[in-house]
Amino acid sequence: MTKVLIATDKPFAPVAVKGIREVVENAGFELVLLEGYTSQDDFVKAVADVDAVIIRSDKADKTVIDAGNNLKIIVRAGAGYDNIDLSAATAKGVVAMNTPGQNSNAVAELALGMMVYCARGFFNGKSGMELKDKKLGIHAYGYVGKNVARIAKGFGMDVYAFDPFIPKEEIIRDGVKYVGTAEELYSTCNFISLHIPANSQTKQSINYSLLSLMPKPAILVNTARAEVINESDLVKMFEERKDFVYLSDVETTNKAELEEKFKGRFFFTPKKMGAQTEEANINAGIAAARQIVGFIKNGDKTFQVNK
Ligand code: 3PG
Repeated sequence: MTKVLIATDKPFAPVAVKGIREVVENAGFELVLLEGYTSQDDFVKAVADVDAVIIRSDKADKTVIDAGNNLKIIVRAGAGYDNIDLSAATAKGVVAMNTPGQNSNAVAELALGMMVYCARGFFNGKSGMELKDKKLGIHAYGYVGKNVARIAKGFGMDVYAFDPFIPKEEIIRDGVKYVGTAEELYSTCNFISLHIPANSQTKQSINYSLLSLMPKPAILVNTARAEVINESDLVKMFEERKDFVYLSDVETTNKAELEEKFKGRFFFTPKKMGAQTEEANINAGIAAARQIVGFIKNGDKTFQVNK
């Protein structure tokens, strides 16, 4: 019987697992659950006899992929697939997919939530500021960026976006101001919200030369990936700009140094939680299950990312 493994270090909401189970079992397949595992070895063992895997930020590295004797498809229930070794998957003839857009509203709501939290002095009771009329720059206008724009406009923010891969007309149509370069975005906006993927072009690309362009006060919001930040430049920004605040859903590797030197000027969620809502789990998890059924039964490769 075709076996579908859910391997989630950070489990989906139970209601989402129930929905995934229904899709999998209605297709005549068997669901295998590996939730909250503590060692990568457990993932490697669990993948040995399954045909398909659903993951979140879990690492589908070469060891995992090579251990999947019957493995045909891995679906990342979410947007970013930087956690899948795509060349190892391709070499083994394993199809890799993501589920674009399915968890984007949850991530966007968290980005705005962190902005409110910061604008109100991390709820310290002192006089803060409002988001209304403040300039927000959206760096990358994909599914999450679009949702951030929609919500931010509800707050009355003045919204700008930069994305070299999205037509200007699409940005303007949403009532968002289009800017043609990252430099222009950073030099215009007090709030910058990052929605770029982590890849060879973007890793460490958010550096001092961009951040130092920001007007005062400068608030950087990262619900994307830790790797896109140049961490030594982040320290330099904190040192040189007393107005700079960093809000992130993904901890830096130099958190201890930041705690020691810049306490009160940054906020990190304790665990990556942008997509951690029942709705996002249901949307992304069930989409992943349907994509697996569609691929195994009909060879449907929509959303394949290792073409
Ligand atoms: C994504 O790329 O979809 C988000 O970063 C969510 O990641 P998560 O599923 O691990 O919460």
